[in-house]
Amino acid sequence: MSILPVPRVAIIVVAAGSGTRLGADVPKAFVGIGAHTVLRHALQRVFAASPAQVVVVAPPGREGDAATDALEAAGERRDLVAVVTGGSTRQASVVAGLAAVWADVEVVLVHDAARALTPAAVFDRVVAAVDASGEGVVPVLPVVDTVKRVEGQRVTEAVDRSQLAAAQTPQGFPRAMLDAAYATAVDEHTDDAALVAAGGHPVRVVAGDALAFKITTPADLERARALVVPAAPRVGVGTDVHAYGGEGDLWLAGLEWPGEPALSGHSDGDAVAHAIVDALLSAAGLGDIGTRFGTDQPEYAGAHADVFLTRTRELLGAAGWAVGNVSVQVQANRPRFTARRGEAEATLSAALGGASVSVSATTTDGLGPTGRGEGVAAFAVALLLPD
Ligand code: CTP
Ligand code: MG
Repeated sequence: MSILPVPRVAIIVVAAGSGTRLGADVPKAFVGIGAHTVLRHALQRVFAASPAQVVVVAPPGREGDAATDALEAAGERRDLVAVVTGGSTRQASVVAGLAAVWADVEVVLVHDAARALTPAAVFDRVVAAVDASGEGVVPVLPVVDTVKRVEGQRVTEAVDRSQLAAAQTPQGFPRAMLDAAYATAVDEHTDDAALVAAGGHPVRVVAGDALAFKITTPADLERARALVVPAAPRVGVGTDVHAYGGEGDLWLAGLEWPGEPALSGHSDGDAVAHAIVDALLSAAGLGDIGTRFGTDQPEYAGAHADVFLTRTRELLGAAGWAVGNVSVQVQANRPRFTARRGEAEATLSAALGGASVSVSATTTDGLGPTGRGEGVAAFAVALLLPD
């Protein structure tokens, strides 16, 4: 027995086409985008919308494959799934889907499986517009190209694009309107809105979504794959060196070290924090501390680690990255890190939103600027993960 209430909305997902223009060796709905089929991607987004009965219209002989995709995408909503066999035209496939819509359903959406990346919000937007208007609803995008009417090779007319819109799916209708329009349809139409309008019913528009593009050609499939395949993790490296000679107490690794000689620099000279910032920015391909936090920006004069790290994390977030972990090594004769290592790690980690930060320290056997006690050097490696 279902624990879900019977929904008042049904979504018919037409997936019975062969995909002639795509030219793959399986029907278009079963072509892969990353780890899943076109159909599975479409259904994942359908099931992320508000609960609805979902009728999948499959190519003849592919009902079992369609059911597997549907049940995996449905999760706890598996009781809402039906699979039926499609027809030889899109219109015939919609008719087959309509026949499987439950009696209590009041609003029906028809969606192309080939618009595999259509966000869930579009479904909810279309249902809301059908409810508010009682009319048919088509999601559309404005036409951006200048449009010409042509006959053969000759341009016969410029068409005013402000009066044009590109129709997408899901298209939604009061159930009685769609049933009536299909019952009386005589001609073949390329979408449901055209068929419903030909039946004399009003159809209005809501905003579509660029991600609702239809996978028709191999180039469309390439575009879909580029959008779905997750970005790989990325690493970055950063170093920084500051000389002693600043004013006041030392600031290093986000901590104040009373009695220790201060480092010089436009900010507090915290070489550890600056090396981490450079590693993070480099991993994201966002430049470096000099380009992002220039000495011409007064708000960074005297700023401490938390200011730089928090701002860096914001920049990364806006670019779609989360900090995986950071490892940083300090080269200095002093201060001695052993006693405050945990405190430094916790402070730096907090400024990075809780990401793991490991701090290690070493001396350089009296060699080089750090060995001679002229300053502090730090070396950081950062791992970023797609957010
Ligand atoms: N469709 C369908 N039944 C058909 C034809 C099409 O269910 N007999 C579905 C397709 O599976 C697709 C949607 O209608 O999800 C839009 O059609 P289209 O992009 O034209 O897909 P195909 O017809 O498969 O492709 P082509 O026209 O290139 O053969
Ligand atoms: Mg077709």
